Parts: sequence; C-alpha cells; structure tokens
Amino acid sequence: MTVHFIGAGPGAADLITVRGRDLIAACPVCLYAGSLVAPEILRWCPPGARIVDSAPLDLDAIVAECARAHAAGQDVARLHSGDLSIWSALAEQTRRLDAAGIPYTVTPGVPAFAAAAALLRRELTVPGLAQSVVLTRTSGRASAMPERETLAAFAATGATLALHLSIHVTEQVVTELTPFYGPDCPAAVVFRATWPDERVITGRLATLTQAVAEAGLERTALILVGPALAARDFRESALYASDYDRRFRPTGAGRPPA
Ligand SMILES: C[S@@+](CC[C@H](N)C(=O)[O-])C[C@H]1O[C@@H](n2cnc3c(N)ncnc32)[C@H](O)[C@@H]1O
Repeated sequence: MTVHFIGAGPGAADLITVRGRDLIAACPVCLYAGSLVAPEILRWCPPGARIVDSAPLDLDAIVAECARAHAAGQDVARLHSGDLSIWSALAEQTRRLDAAGIPYTVTPGVPAFAAAAALLRRELTVPGLAQSVVLTRTSGRASAMPERETLAAFAATGATLALHLSIHVTEQVVTELTPFYGPDCPAAVVFRATWPDERVITGRLATLTQAVAEAGLERTALILVGPALAARDFRESALYASDYDRRFRPTGAGRPPA
C-alpha cells in the first residue's frame, strides 16, 4: 500500500501529468484538496472509489484516512493543486507518514506560476533583464514569513517576482516594490489560471492596485512583477547564435551550405 502525492496542476483537468492521471485511476481511495483541485479531475477515480475532500479536515483526520487505507491495503491518490514542491503541506504530511511507517511517492504537477506565465505568453527569464524567478508570498494566517524573507530583500535583486497568496494585499505589495522596480515596471495579475473564469490583468506597478480593486479579485491569483513581463529590447542569448560552439551543434552546423 502506498500514498501517492500527486500535483493536480493549476486547474484545467488536462494539465495533470499522464502519470498523475494513471495513478488516480489505479487508487481505490482519493483524498483531494477541494479548495483548489478541479472536480473534473476526480472523473479518473475508479468506480466505487472512496473520494474525500480534505478541505474541511485537519492534519490528524487526513493522516487517519491514510492509516485506514494502509490497514486495508488500499493505495491512496493524494491530490494537491499545482505542484507539490510549493505550498502544498507535503512536508507535514510526509513527516507523519514516515512516523507511521506508511510508504509514499511524489508525482510533480504544473505549478500555477507556470500556468500564469503561459497565459501571459511570456518567458520569465529574459537575457539581460532577469535570470531568476522568485516564488514567494506575503505573511498569512497559516504561516508567517521567516524574518529574512522580505519583499524588499527579493526586490533588491530585480528578479521576476511571482507572488502567491497575496492578492488581498496588492496595495501593500505595490508600495513595497515600487522603490525597487519603479512605478512603470511591468506587472500582471493572473486570476484562476486555466479555470473557466480565468482573468488576466496586465499593466504597470502603478496601475495594479486600482485594476485589481476594479476587477474585484480576492482569491486564487498570482501577482507577477518584473521587466521580463514586457521585454522587447533585449539581446538574444548565445544559445542559438550561429557562431556559438556547443556540444549539440558544433560551430558551423546549422548554417546553410555555402
Ligand atoms: C496554497 S498555494 C498552492 C500553490 C500550488 N502548489 C502551485 O504549485 O502553484 C495557492 C496559491 O497559489 C496561487 N494559485 C494556485 N492556483 C492558481 C491559479 N490557477 N491561478 C492563479 N494563481 C493560482 C494563488 O496565489 C493561490 O493563493
């Protein structure tokens, strides 16, 4: 018996991995985080599966579901939104499973920030402008931010920022970022990327607060900030340059015959 933690993707049912879908289909028990996992994904559960929304459960109750399945020799598909490597509560669950001697696997998923970048049709790392993406959040009721992980510290790098769980404090975010990025820095808000009611707001840091207020967006949105979001005048990377010698394309290859 195994608990399979599966990243269910940002929303759209066809953005789960093939591996994740096949695991769901093979598990007689499915525990899913109902606040953000699309119900359509549950259609891959086998007939008669025990399907439990974990949103109203506490950690003890979630682990008890896994222990009950373990005792019955039943595999569990444990679904979380996006990918499991960020804000999934994977660490606290696997620590409990380790203590209980219950085996588990982890299958990655498409994270919301990648879905948002795709909607914007933008690369978040653009040569000369940004070569790092900071996935972060502001303090919330469930988890406070570690002391040194301040917005100012990340903003000082000029990297592309992907702010999660922060749409309700957009004004504060804009105030803290503006001294570093400037009011004209490209910014975007992507609300419920890949869900039927997805929305995209693009603009500048200076226009973001009002645009979010007018749209009435309150939850499940990402704030993206950085020059890469509107990059036009940037140098190309050497990767595809004709005179760039690399293992897969020794200099000269790829040029039209003389
Ligand atoms: C608890 S975190 C989960 C993150 C998830 N594990 C991931 O890989 O993206 C929830 C936050 O992720 C962001 N988020 C999740 N799904 C989203 C979506 N479809 N569109 C925009 N933001 C999303 C929002 O900032 C939301 O408040």
